[in-house]
Amino acid sequence: MKILLTGGTGYIGSHTAVELIERGYDIEILDNLFNSKITVLDDIEKITGVKPVFHKADLLDIPAMDEIFRNGGFDLVIHFAGLKAVGESVEKPLKYYENNVGGTINLLKCMKKYGVDRIIFSSSATVYGDQGVAELTEEMQTGVGITNPYGETKHVIEEILKDVAEADEKFEATILRYFNPVGAHKSGLIGEDPNDIPNNLMPIIMKVSTGEIKELSVYGNDYDTPDGTGMRDYIHVVDLAKGHVAAIEKMKPGISIYNLGTGKATSVLEMVTAFEKASGTKLPYKVVGRRAGDLAKIFANPKKAREELEWVTELTIEDAMNDTINYLKCFAEKK
Ligand code: NAD
Ligand code: UD1
Repeated sequence: MKILLTGGTGYIGSHTAVELIERGYDIEILDNLFNSKITVLDDIEKITGVKPVFHKADLLDIPAMDEIFRNGGFDLVIHFAGLKAVGESVEKPLKYYENNVGGTINLLKCMKKYGVDRIIFSSSATVYGDQGVAELTEEMQTGVGITNPYGETKHVIEEILKDVAEADEKFEATILRYFNPVGAHKSGLIGEDPNDIPNNLMPIIMKVSTGEIKELSVYGNDYDTPDGTGMRDYIHVVDLAKGHVAAIEKMKPGISIYNLGTGKATSVLEMVTAFEKASGTKLPYKVVGRRAGDLAKIFANPKKAREELEWVTELTIEDAMNDTINYLKCFAEKK
């Protein structure tokens, strides 16, 4: 089976590339390198012994996309490519709709033109908005109370995929709703690039640990949670990557939707403590006000993925912290 990974040099795409190559899949990567580096391909080769075919292309560049598909012979697309900085999406909504939604439409048109019927899409727990409960299941109504354009793009793309599936009975789409990916590959070669503009917790913890940011601002300690700080479902990126392998093996016509999370929620202060324990150093932080749009606590109900995909998470927060610290060490040595 030949698989095209859009956004495959990015954080989640590169870890998925490794898992796919290790299981013998033939993959190609398409990325415009806006938020990743070409050297990721060498790192994938160091880990797996295989350097994937790479296409430097933008989803918005229709002639380039056409050429890749014309010569591609793909059986399946895993669509990671997208912009993901929540804060920036509020300032530049059109950039986000154009890139994420417009890019996906171009991709789907190319797939149709060249007879590629199967897609796995990187969605997010953000599509659930505020359900008023912490545990999220796939059949809940989505799209209500999303607080930023980034999240809206994920919801809109899910709706587009449902409409395409409605119109074409051969179409197979699996929507994976990621919870909070953290950690890095155990080799230390690939991980979340610390040069990103971070607004998520883990990249900020990484920057505080390297001294690039003075201290972590903990957004509120007055939530209705045991220690008052926000709680999320942090999933090791390698477990997440393996979720894609499981999804490929169980694809079927129509739309299938799965939460990819652990089913457990961890607080901001628990994350700080776990990082401190793994690194043996103190992580400076101060408590500030709540961040607009934040929820107190959310976590995945992962039952559907467990039962239908036969996929469960195996790695812990401790593994994620150890792997992040190892990755940071390797990253510093490479410089
Ligand atoms: P990432 O930024 O590391 O990877 C995305 C890749 O897509 C980058 O390499 C970027 O250069 C590429 N890209 C962006 N726009 C493109 C375009 N128009 N044409 C070609 N390439 C393009 O992000 P990630 O963390 O690996 O996320 C992958 C996907 O998962 C994204 O769609 C993201 O929205 C989604 N997601 C991520 C998280 C998270 O916390 N990391 C959570 C939920 C969902
Ligand atoms: C955020 C986005 C969500 C997006 C997801 C993954 C918002 C409101 N939500 O979700 O749309 O899908 O990232 O990209 O931006 N925290 C701090 N200090 C920080 C950063 C975070 O205390 O500097 C806390 C947050 O309040 C939260 C937890 O850490 O309780 C996790 O935050 P984050 O990593 O941004 O993820 P989400 O809030 O789940």
